[in-house]
Amino acid sequence: VDPYLNLVEEIQALKREKNAVILAHYYQESEIQDLADYIGDSLGLSQEAARTDARMIVFAGVHFMAEVAKIICPDKKVVLPDLKAGCSLADSAPADAFRRFREQYPDHVVISYINCSAEVKALSDIICTSSNAEKIIRSVPPEKPIIFAPDKNLGKYLIKKTGRDMLLWNGSCMVHEIFSVEKITRLKMRYPDAKLIAHPECEEAVLSMADYIGSTTGLLNFVGRDTANTYIVATEAGILHQMEKHYPDKTFIPAPPENNCACNNCPHMKLNTLEKLYLCLKYEQPEIVLDEDLRQRAYRPLARMLEISA
Ligand code: 13P
Ligand code: SF4
Repeated sequence: VDPYLNLVEEIQALKREKNAVILAHYYQESEIQDLADYIGDSLGLSQEAARTDARMIVFAGVHFMAEVAKIICPDKKVVLPDLKAGCSLADSAPADAFRRFREQYPDHVVISYINCSAEVKALSDIICTSSNAEKIIRSVPPEKPIIFAPDKNLGKYLIKKTGRDMLLWNGSCMVHEIFSVEKITRLKMRYPDAKLIAHPECEEAVLSMADYIGSTTGLLNFVGRDTANTYIVATEAGILHQMEKHYPDKTFIPAPPENNCACNNCPHMKLNTLEKLYLCLKYEQPEIVLDEDLRQRAYRPLARMLEISA
């Protein structure tokens, strides 16, 4: 790419010219968030994909998110700046192993977190996200046993919240498992008025200390209606951009990881760059392509989720 090109202006012009919409997750680089037509959590992003009348969806997020947009909008072109932008949580449920697991429990209703592949979605009865999971679980008749996959941390949290005993798949997110309870405790001592807000993909030890637990949008909205001035934020650090933008008078401290690494940045989300976003808009690739039979099977549990969350 020509180093003198103004990428922001080029992207805005291409977007208009090509009737494209940019949907971005909160974990994207700040400069990508600032260019997006819509920024949201996984539920908001799938609802927005269902709503848009653009010809092309440029998905600034990870592969399973762009795949969801394609499952919902088969007639639209869906592109992702870097096809290698995966998800450790989705990878923790390989479809073949998941099929064998579910076959052992034919009487169970399978609720899968949206962070999974289209193949795993096709093996599920209902999809959920962190913002609607409780509602989805409560929609299943109490006598029906449930398998919850692939996130064991979210699953354990939901068992506590709903009182439903669910069979859990043993998966997790690499980013949400690195927060240090000791370092968070020290921070809380240093800032006694600070509130700890956490994503439910975090481990139980972190969640048990939290003042509020919710999806990325949930965390952002909580900060908006809460009266504290300082927050320790236990989720991927990209969300701080919107928090600081919306609430400039408040202070946000990213929850510290075990090691002194930058591992509260999702390496998959961060594969997308402004330059790749520009190239993907210009050349309309890499494109998400799905087998139609698989798409239809993956759509059924997603449609149930959208219906229940409407
Ligand atoms: P939400 O934005 O739906 O809370 O999901 C968080 C996440 O880990 C996405 O990969
Ligand atoms: Fe997947 Fe975790 Fe990255 Fe979200 S933060 S995309 S769950 S690896």
